Amino acid sequence: MIDYRVDGDGIAVVTWNVPGSPVNTLNDAATTAYVAAVDKALADPAVKGIVVTSAKSDFIAGADINDFLADRSVAGLEAGSRAINRVFRRLETAGKPMVAAINGTALGGGLELALACHYRIAADSPKTRIGLPEVTLGILPGAGGTQRLPRLIGVRAAVPLLVEGTRLPVADALKLGILHAVVPAAELLHKAKAWILAGGKAEQPWDRKGFRVPGGNPGDPGVQEFLSVVIAKVHERTAGNYPAPINILSCVYEGMSSPIEVGTDIESRYFGVTAATVQAENLIRSGFLALNDARKLKRRPAGVPKAEFRKVGVLGAGLMGSGIAYACAKAGLDTVLLDREPAMAERGKVHSDKLLTREVERGKLDAAGREATLARITPTVDYAALTGCDIVIEAVFEQRDIKAEATHRTAEATGPDILFASNTSTLPISGLAEHWPRPDNFIGLHFFSPVHRMALVEVIRGRQTSETCLAQALDFVARIGKTPVVVNDSRGFFTSRVFATYFEEGMALLAEGVNPALIENAGRQTGMPLGPLAVADEVALDLVHKIIVQTRADLGPSYTPPVSAPVIELFVEKLGRVGKKAGKGFYDYADGQRRLWPGLAEHFPRAARQPDVGSVKRRLLHIQSVEAARCLAEGVVESTTDADVASLLGWGFPAWAGGVLSYVDTIGVDRFVAECEALAASVGPRYAPPDILKRLVGTGTQLRAAGR
Ligand code: 3HC
Repeated sequence: MIDYRVDGDGIAVVTWNVPGSPVNTLNDAATTAYVAAVDKALADPAVKGIVVTSAKSDFIAGADINDFLADRSVAGLEAGSRAINRVFRRLETAGKPMVAAINGTALGGGLELALACHYRIAADSPKTRIGLPEVTLGILPGAGGTQRLPRLIGVRAAVPLLVEGTRLPVADALKLGILHAVVPAAELLHKAKAWILAGGKAEQPWDRKGFRVPGGNPGDPGVQEFLSVVIAKVHERTAGNYPAPINILSCVYEGMSSPIEVGTDIESRYFGVTAATVQAENLIRSGFLALNDARKLKRRPAGVPKAEFRKVGVLGAGLMGSGIAYACAKAGLDTVLLDREPAMAERGKVHSDKLLTREVERGKLDAAGREATLARITPTVDYAALTGCDIVIEAVFEQRDIKAEATHRTAEATGPDILFASNTSTLPISGLAEHWPRPDNFIGLHFFSPVHRMALVEVIRGRQTSETCLAQALDFVARIGKTPVVVNDSRGFFTSRVFATYFEEGMALLAEGVNPALIENAGRQTGMPLGPLAVADEVALDLVHKIIVQTRADLGPSYTPPVSAPVIELFVEKLGRVGKKAGKGFYDYADGQRRLWPGLAEHFPRAARQPDVGSVKRRLLHIQSVEAARCLAEGVVESTTDADVASLLGWGFPAWAGGVLSYVDTIGVDRFVAECEALAASVGPRYAPPDILKRLVGTGTQLRAAGR
């Protein structure tokens, strides 16, 4: 776990290598072994100094975040931080020079360990990242980071890194003074030892007599002004949903004018209260662990050999098809991009050209990389070009007959044994599968726009989709660097069905006479990326209108249109304001600006009594979660985690709530059900909580624990 060796020059090399994990983490056993190794070096009079490094490709990834889920008490979390703070301080003041030889990424507690060393030298690698990303987990650095970093590089430089959780390349960390040196990897240990042998001192800047924080203490007027601007910005960005960044600022403000021991005690106090919040639990559980598991296909059907992909066909070179083709080519796959018209197919390739050119301009790709990626895309109108594809993804117009024709023609070219996927967002998969000779090889792969930015792919299992097809489709999604969530076939699947409730509820509020600015502000204050009316404009009202018309035709009298249907019909049929793409919807889009359309007041007279913002926020979030719970009850999604991941990646459900079903636990099941029942009585039956929730009331069981 921790290797200890003393070389002929009297340098102890302490090497981290935590077994059973791809990364080193400061778990209890490893930390204890580390401290024992350093103590051994301190006690050995023959040892002149200590070099700390790692045998893995990364240095240390920080604390083991699973530990923060084990004991959720403020006291326990605070005690853990206090213990590590005391031990780092003891080692830093023990009198022997310590060097962190940072061979790879050093994050969180890993960097904090390095900050408690007297010299930090890193191997030059473009992959290495240096930073304190705790804030992204809803916690704060609890091993001295809030105290040592500002003392080292100054409050103004440290605060943005702390509140944003920035992961710096080594060159930037060197420039900022977090690292003392960056050297070629092969020289790392030699140079680390050389610093000690050249007389490197066991001394920290903050222990020097008369030490002053570089750039001034938080008490100084200039620094105070800087901090108040940061506080205002953090409040604006987080709308009070995330306590961590404000608590980080408190640690810096309160800790910086005290001796470091007092500062780290202050930090531990804030660490306890911050790490114990439900937001921290949600960000760790869903934002980190669940996303990691989804990305790594942890729930892929076992026993199916991993599928390899070399050649992909994409049918339809519209917005989605050309985005999918880009993602495939970028992942190194030969990509046939087929459309009816040669010019359309070519235009689809131009989409990739534009994206790649932008990457070159930003220095993220070289010209050769751009050329190689572009060369992988073959635009064509000829189905014969699909021969040899391992998978074909259909992204043609959302019309059954057009899709059916494209499916038949592909089968003629490729034979029935390849995977065939439809990118439909509205048509049930099982029906479309009938057009493929082997419906067991047919699956839905629902990408999101813009494809190059959206990580999620909703993988839709049709009635006849085989486990092999599912497993291999998951392999494909992972191969192109996206994150899959598996859902079962149904109308609107999961993502579109639940997300739609958000903007539909916005329209319902509008129809009730609620001030549109209030609706939009409330939406944003929940942490959703856009207000519901802005979202409706982005989605395009004519598309929503088309889905309503189609579903009405499919289901007949049993269909209950969404509550927003009259508003949508007004906007599409009478006003011709279909959304952003037309330059007009609920907003006017002129000069690159978005302004609420003044005509809203005429069509939706304001109610005399306006609701408070809290109740609008509640409606906008509760409606999504109650619909998601229905999907869980119906088996559209199979677990609360799947629902959470789909909502975080698919439509930006607020991460503080952990996702659309973790939100229920965040509120508390009892309270959520009571509030939904009250809304069902006052607003409409769409809020009626399903049995899957009602059964849990009074049991003290979380939905997360009870959900399938
Ligand atoms: N704790 C527990 N598990 C961790 C971990 C951590 N800090 N960091 C990574 N892992 C796990 C991952 O979950 C993954 O598990 P798996 O094998 O079951 O899938 C495995 O290690 C490998 O991780 P990745 O797949 O993410 O590997 P990459 O090579 O892509 O990335 C990394 C490596 C950059 C280190 C990335 O894992 C990462 O960003 N980790 C989180 C870093 C972090 O947030 N550190 C702060 C922790 S909190 C802290 O230190 C508090 C302190 O102030 C007291």
